[in-house]
Amino acid sequence: MARPPFRCTKGTLRESALAGSASQEDIFSAMAAAGTGHENWSSRSAFILAAVGSAVGLGNMWRFPAEAGENGGGAFVLFYIFCVLLIGLPVLLSEVLIGRHGQANAPESVRKVARDSNAPEGWSVLASMGVFAAFLILSFYCVVGGWVLYYIGVFAGDLVQTGLTGGAFEGRAAGDVEGLLPGLFGNGGLMVGLNLGFLVLTMFFVARGVSSGIEWVAVYLMPLFFVLFLGITIYGAFTGNFGEALAYLFTFDFSKLTGEVMLAAVGQAFFSLSLGVAGMMTYGAYANRDTNLGETSGIIAGADTAVALLAGLAIFPIVFAAGLASNAGPGLMFQSLPLAFQAMPFGSLIGLAFFVMVFFAALTSSVSLLEAPTAWVFEKFKLVRPVAVMIVGAGAAVLGILSSLSFNDLAELYPLGFIPLFAETNFFDTLDGVTAKLFMPIGAILTCIFVGWVADAKLIDDENGLDGALHQTWRVLVRYVCPIALTVILLAGLFPETAEQVFAVFSGGETPVEVVE
Ligand code: PFF
Repeated sequence: MARPPFRCTKGTLRESALAGSASQEDIFSAMAAAGTGHENWSSRSAFILAAVGSAVGLGNMWRFPAEAGENGGGAFVLFYIFCVLLIGLPVLLSEVLIGRHGQANAPESVRKVARDSNAPEGWSVLASMGVFAAFLILSFYCVVGGWVLYYIGVFAGDLVQTGLTGGAFEGRAAGDVEGLLPGLFGNGGLMVGLNLGFLVLTMFFVARGVSSGIEWVAVYLMPLFFVLFLGITIYGAFTGNFGEALAYLFTFDFSKLTGEVMLAAVGQAFFSLSLGVAGMMTYGAYANRDTNLGETSGIIAGADTAVALLAGLAIFPIVFAAGLASNAGPGLMFQSLPLAFQAMPFGSLIGLAFFVMVFFAALTSSVSLLEAPTAWVFEKFKLVRPVAVMIVGAGAAVLGILSSLSFNDLAELYPLGFIPLFAETNFFDTLDGVTAKLFMPIGAILTCIFVGWVADAKLIDDENGLDGALHQTWRVLVRYVCPIALTVILLAGLFPETAEQVFAVFSGGETPVEVVE
């Protein structure tokens, strides 16, 4: 297939833009004239770094250890790996190939695949839902990004005050250190300010465009992330209780595998791989035709899973060595770890490095969350990119403020309290639950049906870069295994009590132990 002319001129355009001779409008009209509506990644490795950057984020560093700890450790982790291999990876490939074929924002890409397959264009609803879900996730993701900024400030201040060699927060009571997070939660103004600060940073990079903004963040911050990450993991292995962490994360206890644990694992796999929410479709649209998508998807899923497992192996040894609880949930990274850093030599420095690393991971992910709705808004309404960024960012700011306040002034507000699954769930947790438990699995089920059954098989095979047994396996997974498994898991999560009873029948009459507190 011939390349659209814009791709050949992108470098020139970017240079002239940098030299100040091309305005945003010039670039936009050149893109529109070329018919692509967007830029492309400058290379295959830039695509891989950006996609790994999207996948690796707070989901790996904060959500994965918290979910593993709350859902019984090994049972969750093994089922998680199973979900990534048999469900996440096939869906990831399906999403990027839709994007690459469509070369446009996610709903438009699905529409193009549908058109080229003589299928109803209404299938684009799966991507529209995804774009909306990405927007919802962005809003609460930036709230947590704000907490990361806060801890960077706290550790930097501590480093200046207490010096390099001692532990962090020298001379301060453990209760004080643990109290940092509740202290932040209690300060609605600070929460909102930090949330908006992180959102504005994200908006800044997305407004700069694919190559000079999104790609720049990935190419510079992801390598830095990996250096810091490896350093901290090795440090944790030598100074912490590595053996206990290993046993905790990899001892599989079947009795702990309840419907709820399974849903938590699949939700986490989807969140971590940025699936079901149009993010990977959007990034796939910027991939060149010579990129092998099968191979690239394998690299992305492999890197993301490795980082999640290593994050567990970095965090739990430190937590166990300090004698702290493994099931502290969301507080694990923000409360337990700072306590552990207190007991460590070079604690302030390690703490600062840790939160800087998490910040890099979070920014490369939030950028992709903002890009999915932004690409849709600016292509659909023919706006310039910065205006689209402002519109989406303003919406995310409003929801983000509500999420920030759900830890303090609006703590009693349960937006979906009338649904048992979300009873007594505040605004922030409702957005998290609705996106991970509903939007992501439903989006993925529809994607599998679309790619496996509706779209033209030849078109799909031209895009997926697979052959032989791998191709056959992928097709079986996308057509049968993924939609069926996802539907079962979705229902198990929505109706936990019925699922427990069915589960008990299959596991020989014993009701599994309830591990979720
Ligand atoms: N995968 C990211 C993480 O693990 O933090 C979160 C995320 C990014 C989800 C982008 C969805 C998305 F489209």
